[in-house]
Amino acid sequence: MPACTWQGRRFALRLAASDRKANATMTLRPETKAVHSAGSDPASGAIVSPIVLSTTFEYETTGREHDPEQLIYTRYQNPNRASLEAALAQLEGGAIAHGIASGSATMLTVFQALRPGDHIVSSDDLYFGIRVQLEEFFAPWGLETSYVDMSDLAAVRAALRPQTKLVILETPTNPMIRLADIAAIAGIAHAAGAQLLVDNTVATPIAQNPITLGADIVALSLTKYIAGHHDVLGGALVFAEEDDFAQRVMRLVRIGGAVLSPYNAWLAARGLQSLAYRVRAHSENASQVACFLAEHPKIERVLYPHHASHPQYELARRQMRLGSGLMSIQLKGGRQAAVELVNKLRLFTSATSFGGTHSLIEHRESIEESSKTPANLLRVSIGLEHPADLIADLQQALA
Ligand SMILES: Cc1ncc(COP(=O)(O)O)c(C=O)c1O
Repeated sequence: MPACTWQGRRFALRLAASDRKANATMTLRPETKAVHSAGSDPASGAIVSPIVLSTTFEYETTGREHDPEQLIYTRYQNPNRASLEAALAQLEGGAIAHGIASGSATMLTVFQALRPGDHIVSSDDLYFGIRVQLEEFFAPWGLETSYVDMSDLAAVRAALRPQTKLVILETPTNPMIRLADIAAIAGIAHAAGAQLLVDNTVATPIAQNPITLGADIVALSLTKYIAGHHDVLGGALVFAEEDDFAQRVMRLVRIGGAVLSPYNAWLAARGLQSLAYRVRAHSENASQVACFLAEHPKIERVLYPHHASHPQYELARRQMRLGSGLMSIQLKGGRQAAVELVNKLRLFTSATSFGGTHSLIEHRESIEESSKTPANLLRVSIGLEHPADLIADLQQALA
């Protein structure tokens, strides 16, 4: 397949095939599931569910223990959060999901649910905020972490200990856009009695389903593609099985209270309905921009997994149905050239985050704490503008 062909057609064909193979009883495709996931209101007939702001719910007093799924108090459960959780569990192929206040708080909750003396094997290329949590807050508390390059399977195997409870990774990573082989690492983790957690924020459940590939837990920042419009902070954890650890995390979420608010759950569910089509458009736009930039004499390197120049292009094609809108670029003129490019662009906004309608660009080294990111690197989130306009803007800024 030529490097610059958008793989949207292949995506459509692959989905149909994998649906048939993965689950004979699953008759709906992700686009359909997503549209029908946000919940309606049978009482009024409204197609769109109302936002339930009430913090407390009337319940029958029986004098006996309550059904844990009965609505009692919004920190325990809320209709908007419950319907989003059900939709995310279905889209990721998991048994249960928990809606949490942010993507960062999903990882905080997982770490809190472990015990002092437990050990984590982590990718050495994590979103920097997660690494800060581990080093600054959980290491003094007795949670030990070994950092490894997840593309080196022997190193992953060697880092595992009898105390290792969890292997954590992102794929693709942010901002170095490296991939990890989920199926291979799940096999290694399970052989050592550990669980595998995959942060699926960059790929989204539309492009990749880690649970289908063997992962036990999926972490998502809903703030990015799932909500998709730069206006929601949220996160979710999806568990393959409703096992002891999933129960312990649910208890921690409900007792600790770092839950997703009803309004943010409603907005994320609204975003979910168009996720499949938005991700396909982000992907098509990003593929065109990556092709333009890869040929430009001022660009040293384009980091985009679905461009043939990416060192893990074969893994990307095997593991992901399509690319997202996130890429990084390295400029030949170092830090100064990178900063100058940001300041000359008119359509791209110099801003953090990714996964929304607007194209964003950011010099990562200057925003990350203790950054190891190269000084000539810019992270680019390709939005939903017309790709020709984005390319014209990059062309004038690079001229
Ligand atoms: C891959 C990844 N995971 C998690 C997070 C944290 O998400 P949030 O900003 O919703 O806390 C981010 C934030 O940029 C991220 O890039």
